[in-house]
Amino acid sequence: MDLVGPPSAFVDPSVTIGPGSVIFAGAVVQPDVRIGAQVSVSTAAAIDHDCVIEDFVHLAPGTHLAGNVTIEQGAFLGVGAVAIPGRRVGAWTTVGAGGAVVRDLPSEVVAVGVPARPRPSS
Ligand SMILES: CC(C)(COP(=O)(O)OP(=O)(O)OC[C@H]1O[C@@H](n2cnc3c(N)ncnc32)[C@H](O)[C@@H]1OP(=O)(O)O)[C@@H](O)C(=O)NCCC(=O)NCCS
Repeated sequence: MDLVGPPSAFVDPSVTIGPGSVIFAGAVVQPDVRIGAQVSVSTAAAIDHDCVIEDFVHLAPGTHLAGNVTIEQGAFLGVGAVAIPGRRVGAWTTVGAGGAVVRDLPSEVVAVGVPARPRPSS
């Protein structure tokens, strides 16, 4: 069973949510967002229209995604991370707390800062 709620979360009726995903209090998920399986959308995260959130993604509290953002499988966005419209975060990439995604990020890197850039070691 999908866990959607508590009621203080807003999920537009057009949103699709895969099995095992959970959306926490205060989250806002806007029209035509697609959320895969085993995704967590934490407290007060905001996902704007037409975003695609693939399987196994974790969006930490206060993540803010503008419209048409794609978060690929297994990516982790730390608390307060943001992404501007249309950007893509690669699979299994970590965006550090407070990071701002203003360019697409590749897969399997750790990116931090404003703007978020992959750390040299990743
Ligand atoms: C990005 C992150 C994964 C890196 O973790 P780490 O590899 O253990 O990094 P460290 O703590 O060893 O820090 C390494 C360097 O990166 C810097 N750094 C760490 N996190 C950063 C961040 N979010 N933004 C900018 N710089 C950061 C540190 O200041 C340090 O810099 P220094 O070497 O100049 O001192 C982690 O700091 C982070 O932001 N995690 C998010 C946690 C979170 O939001 N959880 C939510 C749970 S619901």
